Amino acid sequence: MITLMVNGKSHQYQDDMDMPLLWALRDVLKYTGTKYGCGKGLCGACTIHLDGQPVRACLTPVSAVEGQSITTIEGLSDDGSHPVQQAWQALNVPQCGYCQSGQIMSAVALLEHTPNPTDKQIDTAMSGNICRCGTYTRIKEAIHLASESVAKGVNVFDPKVEGADV
Ligand code: FES
Ligand code: FES
Repeated sequence: MITLMVNGKSHQYQDDMDMPLLWALRDVLKYTGTKYGCGKGLCGACTIHLDGQPVRACLTPVSAVEGQSITTIEGLSDDGSHPVQQAWQALNVPQCGYCQSGQIMSAVALLEHTPNPTDKQIDTAMSGNICRCGTYTRIKEAIHLASESVAKGVNVFDPKVEGADV
């Protein structure tokens, strides 16, 4: 048995230690926000953070993450209020939405290390996240918006204030 620390909560895990972390998160611990796309580290749909660094959960055996802090999309906020999530809402980034939790986790990691990224830095940081719907332009705009929001210390969008239908 090992202890997995996910989104600040500890979980006792005693299933297959060779299982990819993606399946331990989704099937065992029920954090289903992290998505399966390719299973080969190519699409970024399964991106989570390990000690603040973005990694592909489909390629990471669960045995390798004991003692590390795992963050999934569910760990960003309880209510979608993380500045990056707010920017995504404000600019209606998702189309089908399937890739977007991985996109957001990569964007959050980028902004934590590079709070005011250039277009080129965004392209580099996000190059491993594929969107079949082609939302790349809106993703880039949302990262810039979230960056401005963080710099000002405010969230960019409050659906209740804006009167949005949510
Ligand atoms: S499912 Fe992990 S990179 Fe595609
Ligand atoms: S929004 Fe559909 S795959 Fe990205």
